[in-house]
Amino acid sequence: MNDALLEAALAARGNAHAPYSRFHVGAALEDSSGYVHTGCNVESATYGLTLCAERVAVFKAISEGARQFLRLAVAADTKSLTPPCGACRQVVWELCGDIEIIMVNLQGTREIVRLKELFPRPFDASFL
Ligand code: THU
Repeated sequence: MNDALLEAALAARGNAHAPYSRFHVGAALEDSSGYVHTGCNVESATYGLTLCAERVAVFKAISEGARQFLRLAVAADTKSLTPPCGACRQVVWELCGDIEIIMVNLQGTREIVRLKELFPRPFDASFL
């Protein structure tokens, strides 16, 4: 368990821009060099242009040149731990592979799963 990664996800949650849902999410993605890329959800008044915390973290990391990843922590204020949505599972699979997903809430309850457990039969570039 990497507590610094969880703390980074919880801290990133504090930056969430979620005036419509008021559901605040933070994410922290550790790359193979140990650097942590954070993200929070950013909502749009159109709703549909909203970006989840996980995709913000992944796109920030890719845009900064990172290509290999180890773990993604996701923090939300829910008793039942919040997993990445379907769109994020697809994007994380394609750009990060079968990494560890660590879900955490504000009480410190946590669970680790591999992405493949959440996303067992992905469509990806191997089909093209
Ligand atoms: N959201 C995330 O950022 N990550 C998740 O894992 C679940 C959902 C965001 C999207 C939207 O801003 C709000 O939470 C409600 O769906």
